[in-house]
Amino acid sequence: MDSLSVCGNGPLKGQTFASGSKNAALPLLASALLAEGTHHFENVPRLADIRTMLKLLRHIGLETSMEHNAHPSSCTLHNPGKANPEAPYELVKTMRASVLVLGPLLAKYGKAKVSLPGGCAIGARPIDLHLKALSAMGAHISLSGGYVEATAQRLHGADFRFDTISVTGTENLLMAASLAKGTTRIRNAAQEPEVAELVDVLKKMGAQIEWEKPNELVVEGVEALTPCQHTVCADRIEAGTLLVAAAITGGDVFVQNAQAAHLGAVIEKLREAGCEISQEHKNGPGLRLVAPPHIRPLQLQTQEYPGFPTDMQAQFMALLSIADGDSEIAENIFENRYMHVAELCRMGAHIHVSGTHALIHGVSKLSGAPVMATDLRASASLVLAALRAEGTTTISRVYHLDRGYEQLEEKLSHLGAKVERLHG
Ligand code: UD1
Repeated sequence: MDSLSVCGNGPLKGQTFASGSKNAALPLLASALLAEGTHHFENVPRLADIRTMLKLLRHIGLETSMEHNAHPSSCTLHNPGKANPEAPYELVKTMRASVLVLGPLLAKYGKAKVSLPGGCAIGARPIDLHLKALSAMGAHISLSGGYVEATAQRLHGADFRFDTISVTGTENLLMAASLAKGTTRIRNAAQEPEVAELVDVLKKMGAQIEWEKPNELVVEGVEALTPCQHTVCADRIEAGTLLVAAAITGGDVFVQNAQAAHLGAVIEKLREAGCEISQEHKNGPGLRLVAPPHIRPLQLQTQEYPGFPTDMQAQFMALLSIADGDSEIAENIFENRYMHVAELCRMGAHIHVSGTHALIHGVSKLSGAPVMATDLRASASLVLAALRAEGTTTISRVYHLDRGYEQLEEKLSHLGAKVERLHG
């Protein structure tokens, strides 16, 4: 298993860029199941999760090819119109988002067998709402041997309200409803930019979808969809992480492609912490962050979009661990998303967790230590802390990082960081 060796090397400076969004690309790739023919996506990030989704789609029967040499990379998928509608445990266990094939398979082929994702490091993360929504559309669902088996002659429209807002749940239902008979109303829908992007792509494919309210979508099912071409938007979480890298090292960094419109809550908190953020144009639009001499403490709570994203919580905790005073974080989305706390404390951070709340007492310095990554965003927070720490930090299990950050070592090194991958 590879690890990363990071040695604090002062302020990061210069220009970098955000790659294509992982969480936008995953449902878009799954949407290729809905229409026969050739689909083409530009700006697809080269990440382990994308490779897993492509492997899954090939298992189902699609032909896929990723243009590796092009930058940014692109991906072509050919749907021959027949499928082996199964998502096996070996693939689903490595990536929960594999569940995104459930809605399209059921809508297009009337049948799906998808492994239950099981537990994961950041919480139980059930898929009960995905199943409830599809049942409301007429799917027969049974659970056996760790698999969900779903069948339907043809799904019909339904009026469905999510009890809890779910991003992939909303995406699964949107894809299913696009080919269902009749009208589907999705209430309490997720409003994340990745959901909006899926809506745009489904509309390009011929789906009839309208946002009735910011959190309510109405889908008029159609008989068939056609493939489309699309460029995936920039990854707002990667962009946010790079901005925090600038902030925690006292740096000055321009992140090309970072979109202010998708990062409202993150920008607000970075400004409150004392950072200067401006929209600039250097070979393309992006955001520049100039860090203050001292980070001001913050109170923040994670919420569904447009609130502060849970996927940025760990990175902000690293930042607040060196703030001038005491900060407070409330994690409202996932019940067990503080796995990075113990590791940050090993580097000298003072953090106390009580239930969903964390109290962070800012310290003047962090020190390098061997630490272990536990999930994707937790790994990012350890890299950020390591960039600020005195001495060398070795982060093991970086395969978590490789699931969601394209060329992170190269990007950080380009900004002046000392980062090295140790193979083993
Ligand atoms: C997506 C993102 C992930 C992000 C999360 C929250 C992708 C591929 N992943 O994950 O990066 O952290 O949104 O912004 O886009 N829930 C249920 N039952 C369900 C579904 C969800 O109880 O059937 C709960 C979850 O346990 C969690 C909350 O709803 O507490 C939100 O989860 P959800 O939005 O579904 O997360 P994902 O879509 O898996």
